[in-house]
Amino acid sequence: MWRYPRILAHRGGGTLAPENTYAGLRRGLEFGFRAVEFDVMLARDGVPVVLHDPCLGRTVNGTGHVFDYDARELARMDAGSWFGAAYRDEGVPLFTEFAALCRSYGIWMNIEIKPAPGFERETGTTVARLAQAMFADALATGDLARAPLLSSFSLTALQAARLAAPGLPRACLMRQAPPDWEAQARAVGAAALHLDHRFLEPALAAAVRAAGFGLFCYTVNTPARARELLSWGVDAFCTDRIDLIGPADWPVSS
Ligand code: G3P
Ligand code: MG
Repeated sequence: MWRYPRILAHRGGGTLAPENTYAGLRRGLEFGFRAVEFDVMLARDGVPVVLHDPCLGRTVNGTGHVFDYDARELARMDAGSWFGAAYRDEGVPLFTEFAALCRSYGIWMNIEIKPAPGFERETGTTVARLAQAMFADALATGDLARAPLLSSFSLTALQAARLAAPGLPRACLMRQAPPDWEAQARAVGAAALHLDHRFLEPALAAAVRAAGFGLFCYTVNTPARARELLSWGVDAFCTDRIDLIGPADWPVSS
């Protein structure tokens, strides 16, 4: 059963602010979002940061790999100018600080574990441990609706997360579900599948639901498509267009 919000702001504030930044989070809040998806990977010192790409250059003004820098160095870099000069003071957020801010605002989190190649196990373990510690109270009282959902394209990262924080729910990210999607999801004890909506068909949606998994889609940017997916039984989705698709129109699933 999906016990979480139906609609999430993708990468913090969708495409209305630089992705995976505090500015994005603020933008999402302005549009009424209280649920967010963001990406997390490890810096050189093993400290997780909120970032999508394993290399600098696209969203962060710099060169090389994320694992060439310590987290504090990344935090001082410019992760906003690519979007607009007004955002040049946005650094790369430290995961624990970003998550603590989400928590303080009551923003529910889908934390996408996005390991750089070769760092799958380490990233899954670190992120899951930190998230578990942050939500120890919710987990102790069984308040799983408040605890974050950990997702990843990497089964290795999800398996590591399961070992490190068995009480936190996990979701398998799959662009296009392979024939053995159910076996893969069960192998990591996933509660949900997160699928690219462009490859979803009604029969697959029904099969995922019938198998007892939650079904989440990324990244849905028109209200018409969102309505269609929900009519297929999709539980929730994230969107880049937080201006077009508002949470008030998409209440928590029953
Ligand atoms: O978690 C859903 C979605 O964010 C997965 O793709 O590349 O946007 O992280 P990506
Ligand atoms: Mg993501």
